[in-house]
Order: sequence, then C-alpha cells, then structure tokens
Amino acid sequence: MKILLIGDVVARPGRVAVLERIQDLREQHAVDLAVMNAENVAGGFSITPQMAEELFSAGIDVMTSGNHIFDKREAAGYIARQPRLLRPANYPEGTPGSGLWTGEVGGARVAVINLMGRVYMPPTHDNPFPVADRLLAGLDEEVRVRIVDMHAEATSEKIAMAWYLDGRASAVVGTHTHVQTADERILARGTAFITDLGMTGSYSGCIGMDKEGVIARFKSPATPRAEHSKGDVRICAALVDVDDATGRAREISRLSLPHES
Ligand code: FE2
Repeated sequence: MKILLIGDVVARPGRVAVLERIQDLREQHAVDLAVMNAENVAGGFSITPQMAEELFSAGIDVMTSGNHIFDKREAAGYIARQPRLLRPANYPEGTPGSGLWTGEVGGARVAVINLMGRVYMPPTHDNPFPVADRLLAGLDEEVRVRIVDMHAEATSEKIAMAWYLDGRASAVVGTHTHVQTADERILARGTAFITDLGMTGSYSGCIGMDKEGVIARFKSPATPRAEHSKGDVRICAALVDVDDATGRAREISRLSLPHES
C-alpha cells in the first residue's frame, strides 16, 4: 500500500497547493491513502468545517492535527462528528473527537493514530507513550497497516517514539516543527520514520508566517500575531510503501515540491 503523508498544511497557500495538486500526486505515485496534518489550515491555526470538507473532497482521506486544532471555535463541534479528522489521542478524556481512525483501504485494514509530544509543548495532555501502547493493543490483529503522526517539538521525543513503536507501527512520522528533516529511514523492525515531514505552505516567511511580523514579535512582546506569509510555496511530504500482509514498511521517500498556483 502506498501512503502519502503530508506535513503541516499552513494557511491559504498550503491549502490551495494541496487542493490543486493532490489528484496529480495520487496518480503519479499510485497513492492508496493520503493523510495530511490539518492543524494550521485556517490562517495558520486550526481548520473550519468548510475547509476540511473541501480537502476531503479533493482527495485527502484522513487528517491529523495537534496543539492548534481547537483554536477555531467551530472545530470542536466538527471534529466530534467527523471521524476522519483526528486530534491528539493523548488529550484528556472528554476532549471532543478521537485520536484514532480505522478503516479499509483496497481491502486492507488501516489505522491512523495521532499523538502529541510533551517536551516544550503546553501542559495540556497525557504521556503519549502509554497512550500509544493502549491504542495499539486495542487494535484488531487484522489491522496491520498502522500510521502514527507524532506531533512534537523535540526531535529526541519523536525519535524515541519511533523506536518505541518499531515493529508495532508501519510508519511513525513527525509533524509540528514545519522544517523537513533529511533522516527518513526504515528502522530495524520495519517501521518507516522521519523526524519531521516539513511544512506545506509558503516558504517566504518564518515557518509559514510573515517574516517581518515574526521578527517584530521576537523583538517586542507588544506585537500582534503575524499574518501568514505568501509565495514560494512548497508541498512537503513523505511516501511510504507498506506491505499490507505484514504491516512492515518497504520504503520511505521524502517529497519537497515547489508549487505554483
Ligand atoms: Fe503544532
């Protein structure tokens, strides 16, 4: 099974790039399942129901997220009724939505799990390691293809999670830092891993936001949040090929594609 994993899609430039390119990418790489991180879709923070529906209609199958998912008021109601939009599984009990999606892709059972790291992150959520154990132990044995988005700041925490799940997940991919890392590989027991998929959005600014605004904010606390940047758009993602029968990854490759609207 070929799985396309798209890193944090940021604001309108990222959203438009995915809408315009997803079908081409699906065809070009014979993609069976397309997953993207959607926590920054609406101007950099969260997602609206309309944006999510557009992305699903365009060819995204499942969306993961992270710390910004509830920044838009309407996200909580939507996530509660849309099983294909995930929030971190290690958010406290009672948080709307789910951190796990299971479904069938071309006859194979698949799970997508969304976790969030705790190092240099807000103190809002539980330890992702035991939560990962619990979710994986609860999966039917037939669910062999298991994809994990580890939304985290610290590279060490993402690498530790990948080793922890090696042989139990088909792929562990990092999101959140918006900078693609060049360390994609298959771990010893068959788990595909990359520390960060990188951002899909405008590279003319600072991780998707207007550079002047970000610099001003670093210089003075009395500065409003920066707007998103525009131009120099790239789609950053990874392609993972998984053996459906065993759940082991055969190959992982990185994509970093310029996009002109
Ligand atoms: Fe994030």
